[in-house]
Amino acid sequence: MPFGRLFRGKQQPKPESEPEEAVVDDATVAEEEPDVGDVPPEWDETGEDIDRSWRTRARDVLPGGTSTGSKGPDALYGKGNDSGPTHYIRASGCRLTTPNEVTLIDCTMALGAVSLGYGDERVLRAAIAGAASGNVAGLAHTAEVELAERLCDVIPCAEQVRFLKSGADAVSAAVRLARTATGRNTVVGCGYFGWHDWSSSSPGVPDSVRAGFQAVPFDDIAALDAACRNSGRDLAAVVLEPVIERLPSPEWVAAARGLCDELGAVLVFDELKTGFRLARGGYQELSGVTPDLAAFGKAMANGFPLAAVVGKRAVMDAANQTWISSTLAGESMSIGAALAVLQIYDSEDEDVCNSLGRVGAAMRESVQSAVNASGIDGVTVAGLDQMWFLRFDDPRVERQFLEVSVAEGVLFKRGAYNYAALAHDEEETLVEIERAASSAFVAIVDGESE
Ligand SMILES: Cc1ncc(COP(=O)(O)O)c(C=O)c1O
Repeated sequence: MPFGRLFRGKQQPKPESEPEEAVVDDATVAEEEPDVGDVPPEWDETGEDIDRSWRTRARDVLPGGTSTGSKGPDALYGKGNDSGPTHYIRASGCRLTTPNEVTLIDCTMALGAVSLGYGDERVLRAAIAGAASGNVAGLAHTAEVELAERLCDVIPCAEQVRFLKSGADAVSAAVRLARTATGRNTVVGCGYFGWHDWSSSSPGVPDSVRAGFQAVPFDDIAALDAACRNSGRDLAAVVLEPVIERLPSPEWVAAARGLCDELGAVLVFDELKTGFRLARGGYQELSGVTPDLAAFGKAMANGFPLAAVVGKRAVMDAANQTWISSTLAGESMSIGAALAVLQIYDSEDEDVCNSLGRVGAAMRESVQSAVNASGIDGVTVAGLDQMWFLRFDDPRVERQFLEVSVAEGVLFKRGAYNYAALAHDEEETLVEIERAASSAFVAIVDGESE
């Protein structure tokens, strides 16, 4: 394919907002719209580009074309970029299949929700058994108790557990518990905690709610100290996403623990990304710093909808004074999936989180080799092995890279993490990742030199 021709686009700067869960935090970038007019798409017998038709249909009935911000066309490929498939019909291992029967290696692994692989048979069987047991009823299923007991075994801060459905639910519940337990309002936080009002700066959040939350920069002890002390006797909680692009300094986390102890506030770790990925028990297991509460989800149920707020009995007890409840919180399909995940993490020969690190390192090396071989400038491979990302100095290059690599069969994440899964652990997959990245970088370099 004459890649060089893809990228001689007309100059058309456009503003763009990053999705909130993006790794990068620059809000606005100008982009160039590529001219893809001369590239033949895949057509069906009626002359319709099947993958593109789903994008059009989705845009019509779903604002932004999706219910998950990071899966919208703009988030996947850059604002106004019409290239690349937006929908899939099947996923297995680390591969997904588009409606046009194109198979892609997926490096995004559902925003980190899947650490084993899509459709892992052991998890699927447990989930189906859970669903077949009735899934929900007028009483709670015994599996809910079993999973709570297991989580208390493996997560350092966990003495009690409440299940919910999304990460946003679980972190919001932690904040509700902290406010109830302390009788205070102010929350100081660093990270992305989901879309709920308490931490969001999006339109539609009342100013009075915003006033209760103060965001602080990652790994900045002075800013954390000032924000906590300025909150005076109203500090209810410090909520940290403990890893943002890199591990924090131990001093920052120790400062958070110390400030909470000194000021009588609750320390919360948001372990949505780090739990069952850096270590089963998350960052707290790695660091040895134990928060009072923590939120888990994503990889915990390998893609089934389950999240949990866990923590010290004294703080969790606030659940008896306030109201945290959801109709389907304990449905046994997802609980069954999470029990299977725990069993797999227990029984694999190599520690699953170590394996994720090893596989992620190999994925990164594949892409780094492609960067080196092409001689391209302004592209960095960074992050932790289990959750790594690509950084592009020029957003137009990022866009071109994503466009060509997906045409070459690999879906990389734009502006956020690529997540390693056990399912990537195959020589053939790693070779494919390197080949697609290489094709993309070479095409970009060739295009620039034309
Ligand atoms: C650290 C963190 N917390 C909370 C959330 C929100 O989780 P959910 O999208 O399941 O509501 C996310 C989602 O990406 C996250 O990464």
